[in-house]
Amino acid sequence: MRTIRDIRLFENIPILVRAALNVPVENGCVVNNYRLRRAVPTIRFLAERGAKVVLIGHSGEKGTETLEPVARALGGLIQDVSFFDESIGERVRAAIRDLSPGHVLVLENLRRDRGERGNDLAFARELAALADVFVQDSFDTCHRAHASIVSIPELLPSYAGLLLEEEIQGLLQALTPTHPSLAVIGGAKFSTKEPVLAMLLEKYDKVFVGGALANDFLKASGQEVGESIVSIADPARVKNLLANPKLVLPIDSVTKNDQILDQGPGTIALLANLAQKAKTILWNGPLGNYENGFVDATDAFAYAVANSSSHSIIGGGDTVAAIENLGLLPHFSFVSTGGGAMLDFLAKGTLPGIEALDKYTI
Ligand code: 3PG
Repeated sequence: MRTIRDIRLFENIPILVRAALNVPVENGCVVNNYRLRRAVPTIRFLAERGAKVVLIGHSGEKGTETLEPVARALGGLIQDVSFFDESIGERVRAAIRDLSPGHVLVLENLRRDRGERGNDLAFARELAALADVFVQDSFDTCHRAHASIVSIPELLPSYAGLLLEEEIQGLLQALTPTHPSLAVIGGAKFSTKEPVLAMLLEKYDKVFVGGALANDFLKASGQEVGESIVSIADPARVKNLLANPKLVLPIDSVTKNDQILDQGPGTIALLANLAQKAKTILWNGPLGNYENGFVDATDAFAYAVANSSSHSIIGGGDTVAAIENLGLLPHFSFVSTGGGAMLDFLAKGTLPGIEALDKYTI
């Protein structure tokens, strides 16, 4: 795959960069800038060589959010960042023409235009018309077949950014774990986790399932889950995985109002023990209902992994934020900026956004 190190001309060249700008924003302020910090090396690489750096990305889930606070937060990490409140059209092209070499312009949330999620070719053409070169650095979105992910590489000479390159290298290591190996998958939604669980059960020695995801397994194994969140429509699919002796389930839990909301002390001890023995640990997804304050199992496991001598690979927005809050990030070997993208990459070994870069070599 061609990376930005293969670009020959930079000075005064407009370069369009799909960056990982989707960070949590509350009351108009970025509350976790981890992805932005990881986006900086590529931006700096291009800006230092005199390119006009045009950043595109998305923010939030509604599609109406603005990237303005994100641009402001980025301006706290690197110099010469400004924001433009549109993402395509003549006004944007004029702003890029006026941009000085080495300056960074953040365009408005791509998802404000339906063409982004709809992978509309006309929208992709408008984006491609803004620059001479395209850089894909938003690993976190490479699992989406959106215009800025899969169509721009058809239209412009395209390169991988430094973050995308690092993500691929870091996660490929997770596909060849050193034994004994431990995978821990939390969060919810069985359907999105099923393919990665199947892969992990093949490659890892122990696969622990926590979070609301575990409820599906507990229920399918005949245990009482009361009013707990369950997601599965077809219990036979869960039973299939349940039969695998590598699968490890919680042995106790913290409950409230007849709902399982966190793992109990026995499970926390079991996980700490597995973490201590493991040479590779892969972890994605909180173990309890983290956003509502049920943080004990997630925090305890974070400390257990940080204290272990394993090669540790983690990902998922909530998981990374939890570890950052504890100040433990430097104790992990590889921290992915991807959530769903990380899981899809592990399950399939590639992603639509990566395939698009490989396929079109204009
Ligand atoms: C993420 O936060 O996982 C990525 O930025 C993708 O966002 P999406 O799930 O809204 O497509």
